Amino acid sequence: MLKVVVLVSGGGTNLQAIIDGVKNGSIRNTQIVGVISNNKNAFALERAAREQIPASCISPKDFSSRDEFNQEFMDAVDGMQPDLIVLAGFLVVIPEEMIQKYRNRMINIHPSLIPAFCGKGFYGLKVHEAALERGVKVAGATVHFVDEGTDTGPIILQKAVAVEAGDTPEVLQRRVMEQAEWKILPQAIDAIAGERISVVEGKVIIK
Ligand code: GRF
Repeated sequence: MLKVVVLVSGGGTNLQAIIDGVKNGSIRNTQIVGVISNNKNAFALERAAREQIPASCISPKDFSSRDEFNQEFMDAVDGMQPDLIVLAGFLVVIPEEMIQKYRNRMINIHPSLIPAFCGKGFYGLKVHEAALERGVKVAGATVHFVDEGTDTGPIILQKAVAVEAGDTPEVLQRRVMEQAEWKILPQAIDAIAGERISVVEGKVIIK
């Protein structure tokens, strides 16, 4: 059984896709053992509570230093003994020590086809605003392993969606979520749970 901890900051629609995938069997051999948010108002925490998934809020704002937060945060995650950590819209910088400890066991969902529109400053609606500004005809999402960079780890899955005439950033964001994010994130977790993923020389192989 793959034990998964999901880290969230916002609405939790990707968390919901994981919850639904475990319940409907499209994500096999997986249990969400905990949810942690940095935002006490994140609706993602409500989604976890509805499923009786242990959920907590740990925010850098509640600590006198980032080091203190990092230690408390890492202790909370380690305490759940996850096999996999999923960043589902988590907006806090992950401590280096944690990235090293969970190398190739921590994944992130990014709302673009990396390497387009990613890296520092590209999150949430900003990604879609930049895509529309550039005039791209195809958008999409990427699931990747987390490394020391920003959106730079080995790519696991990607899915493209069409950009349509008249799209606003909000409309495009919703389409990318519905048609890409909520599909490839569960697929990636199922592949990891099924031990069908390996990383060879920085490239992901899915069996
Ligand atoms: C999603 O657009 C995801 O791609 C990005 O943050 C957003 C999180 O949305 N990383 P939600 O909290 O899963 O609804």
